[in-house]
Amino acid sequence: MIADLVLSNSKAYFKEDIVDCSIAFGNGRILKIGKEANMPKADSRIDLKNQLVLPGLIDAHVHLRDEGKSRKEDFYSGTSAAAAGGFATVVDMPNNDPVTMSSGTLRNRMDIAERKVLVNVGFRCEFPRNLKDVELIVQQGALGFKLFMAEQVGGLDLDDDDGIIEAFKTVAGFGASVAVHAEDKETLKKAEDVLKKEKRNDVAAFLKAHSERVELRAVERVLNLVRRSGVQLHFCHVSTEEGLNAIVEARESGARVSCEVTPHNLLLSSDDLKRIGMLCVCMPPVRDKRHIEALWKGVKNGSIDFVASDHAPHLLKEKEAESVWDVKVGIPGLETTLPLLLTEVNRGRLELGELVRLLAEKPAEILQLRRKGCLTEGYDADLTVVDLHRKFKIDSSKFLSKAKYSPFDGREVTGKPVKTFVNGRLVFDEGEVVVKPGTGRVLRREIAV
Ligand code: DOR
Ligand code: ZN
Ligand code: ZN
Repeated sequence: MIADLVLSNSKAYFKEDIVDCSIAFGNGRILKIGKEANMPKADSRIDLKNQLVLPGLIDAHVHLRDEGKSRKEDFYSGTSAAAAGGFATVVDMPNNDPVTMSSGTLRNRMDIAERKVLVNVGFRCEFPRNLKDVELIVQQGALGFKLFMAEQVGGLDLDDDDGIIEAFKTVAGFGASVAVHAEDKETLKKAEDVLKKEKRNDVAAFLKAHSERVELRAVERVLNLVRRSGVQLHFCHVSTEEGLNAIVEARESGARVSCEVTPHNLLLSSDDLKRIGMLCVCMPPVRDKRHIEALWKGVKNGSIDFVASDHAPHLLKEKEAESVWDVKVGIPGLETTLPLLLTEVNRGRLELGELVRLLAEKPAEILQLRRKGCLTEGYDADLTVVDLHRKFKIDSSKFLSKAKYSPFDGREVTGKPVKTFVNGRLVFDEGEVVVKPGTGRVLRREIAV
């Protein structure tokens, strides 16, 4: 047996330990992890010089745009940013132009992605107008569905509880999951209208509109619906103590629910939002200390399943509006998430094992990505190599994403992704993309029968 590639002098995160080893790849899979003397012959070798090797990281929530929004980001720039940020796999959200909400729009998106992506990409779909089309979307290989509750995006009427339950039941029938953006449209709209009448258009007004209550209302409503449908439900970017408590309670009473948190909700506060201004505007917004502490507690005790960036790129000029109601909401996160979390590892707030759980093991488990999420023989050869001790300053002008801004700009961080391997290929190496577009793979969910 001849391997395609052997990585020598690795310090690999393996079964909750860091082990000195070599790693052999073949046919896009991990062939062997072991002593150098036991490695098979190989076509090529890379000396990792004792750098730390993690399972290829997974960002379960990104907006890659492309198609009608390619001025903001496209599959090539977005997956370049992913590779540069140490992510071997990302999951694209459906609020695109056109919205991904039919087997046709999904197929088209997959076709375009196939030619352009550098890392593995899976897709979530909004609900189609006709529930009969759920089956076609599942057959097309969607990783799951998405329900955006802050405004009408997909084909499912947000005001129709019975319709939502039926949609959830249909999705459950195919063993697929639903991810939810939990902000209640009614409550949000009412608060926005009052503030607009008062001529309030600053970031504090945005914070007031996107209140804790807006999140809790949506969380409670959807939890009530999920109990009556049995679907696997995932809460995107939980941002409040109350929201998280409601999710934990539901889980304790047997509901199939999981949740994620963003790095910005863990590391930026409402004071930062007021200081930084529009570049920090996202939904749900960053919040005060009470919530940040509750989210960190959830990260540490496992009630928050994983971290996702919610990479949401916009044009810089779209972030520069006078009024907060005109500004495009969202923060690019693919190139800051890992350095920010590695910094927390270096500071002792997070253990390395927790980081691997949050950015690899748990997203793989919840997204049902078999053969991903840990370094194991037979698994996909997706690897993230980091220099745990390298210090640098976040500089958004160097991002590979088209969105060259960040609320973290200028922040000193310790820990940098240096190499990203995807399906056995070195895709990103010390600041540079080293493969052609199309090296990544489109991930299709295997249908349970
Ligand atoms: O901040 C956000 N940006 N939140 C969302 O839910 C959407 C996203 C986007 O697509 O820009
Ligand atoms: Zn969202
Ligand atoms: Zn999002």
